[in-house]
Amino acid sequence: MQDKINELESKIESAQLGGGEKRIEAQHAKNKLTARERIHFLMDEGSFEEIGMFVTHRSSNFGLENNKPLGDGVVTGYGNINGRLTYVFAQDFTVMGGSLAEAHAEKIVKIMDLAMKNGAPLIGLNDSGGARIQEGVVSLGGYADIFYRNTLASGVIPQLSAIMGPCAGGAVYSPALTDFISMVENTSYMFVTGPDVVKTVTHEEVTSEELGGASTHSTKSGVTHFTYANEIECINGLKKLLSYIPQNCEEDAPSLPYTAGDEKREKLNSIIPQNSNQPYDILEVISGTVDGNSFHEVHKDYAENIVVGFARMAGKSIGIVANQPAFLAGVLDNNSSKKGARFVRFCDAFNIPLLVFEDVPGFLPGTDQEWNAIITNGAKLLYAFSEATVPRITVITRKAYGGAYDVMNSKHIGADMNFAWPSSEIAVMGAKGAAEIIFKKEIKEAADSEAKLKEKEAEYAEMFANPYNAAARGYVDEVIRPDQTREKLIKAFKMLENKVDVLPKKKHGNIPM
Ligand code: HXC
Repeated sequence: MQDKINELESKIESAQLGGGEKRIEAQHAKNKLTARERIHFLMDEGSFEEIGMFVTHRSSNFGLENNKPLGDGVVTGYGNINGRLTYVFAQDFTVMGGSLAEAHAEKIVKIMDLAMKNGAPLIGLNDSGGARIQEGVVSLGGYADIFYRNTLASGVIPQLSAIMGPCAGGAVYSPALTDFISMVENTSYMFVTGPDVVKTVTHEEVTSEELGGASTHSTKSGVTHFTYANEIECINGLKKLLSYIPQNCEEDAPSLPYTAGDEKREKLNSIIPQNSNQPYDILEVISGTVDGNSFHEVHKDYAENIVVGFARMAGKSIGIVANQPAFLAGVLDNNSSKKGARFVRFCDAFNIPLLVFEDVPGFLPGTDQEWNAIITNGAKLLYAFSEATVPRITVITRKAYGGAYDVMNSKHIGADMNFAWPSSEIAVMGAKGAAEIIFKKEIKEAADSEAKLKEKEAEYAEMFANPYNAAARGYVDEVIRPDQTREKLIKAFKMLENKVDVLPKKKHGNIPM
């Protein structure tokens, strides 16, 4: 027996060495960890169980028959993250560049199926040269098997992707189908076609980093939700993100112990400037309202006119969507509408109640916006809120103008509770614009047109730049002092904790794509 055990141990050692010491050194030289090191830092100590360590490819093309590394370039298995079951795959760049082919894909598919059947999150650590060129169409088939499962798992279990190396060609579509993408600065990139193809087709000269590095995708395309300076920060970010979300769509997110106290937040009374055209930072309102420093921002550097992220209220996980007056006056545009809609749908799919802070002057005008489909994109946010059945609360801090009033989780589209601060202005548009339109003739004919405009503007503002008309109709449930906000929200979320709301029977809706 001992000789058999020795044989097993030597095979395990060989599998654990991946592509060998030299290649591990090369990986470290690029500031990258190996697949096994990443899993070591991700999972609770001693909890990881590997599946398929001895899987090999079956190809005999291009000399592959003499090169059958154990594990086929991907480490797969399950373990715990902060005590919660999680499935993981980590591509091993030291083995054939982490390239994906038949057996490699089958290993990933196996743990995806297990994650689905057992209702636990799936984390993919991507570091791969893409489809294994020597294996041809089975590599493409393997990708499609994964894409299919990513889609079926969407909304059932949380799927998180970390990009920790190259991710090119069709390989980008598995991460794109998952819920959140994280990238590591300077060592990861994602693109459908690389710089060489770009140069041939469009004659543009661009580096991999410019084309698809972490900063490109966090600021320009919005493809990545999080970027990190290094892999350890990225792994810690994945763990933090998981702490706000449930295991699957049937469960609630874990809550933290909470002791009441510190509910009156007087600091909130002095955030809104006297002049309603002056900006302020909505992050101060968010951090002034939620538990401690629990706000975890998503998509931080993209479409900064809307802020989205997770936080805790009285220990419970919530999703926050907030207009940001400090950036483009908090206006809604194409990118912020898409960003908000995607986040709302994630929260709704995974039973995370939604809190909206509203201060929005309307939709951004202009040809750029119209030609890039602000109609369709604005409708995404409207649709996402309207179909969300989780508890939904809005706090209007200042402006709630025009169509944006409707879109930002108004009671008319199903919000459960709407609060307004006394500084709220709830109207079809700003007082100046409104006066210019409805009193056009009067202003034109006045001896002093400017004075007349000012007078009419003040008249309109007096009538509508307040929350009381909306409150009189019940569109706002309560006008509250800012320092009461936290207390009111804790009570309201508690009151809504058992909310059941069912959408009309349908196969699925047709969100404006
Ligand atoms: C087979 C691959 C490979 C691949 C890398 N390797 N990519 N083997 N298939 N796709 C191997 C290399 O031959 C090399 O093996 C080892 O991995 C490390 O690669 P290097 O090139 O030495 O590393 P580096 O200089 O860091 O460059 C990494 C890279 C480059 C930028 C990823 O390897 C590269 O451009 N690879 C090809 C990328 C690609 O075109 N993939 C197909 C995309 S299309 P040795 O033994 O020499 O060390 C696609 C379609 C998917 O993915 C469609 C899904 C629908």
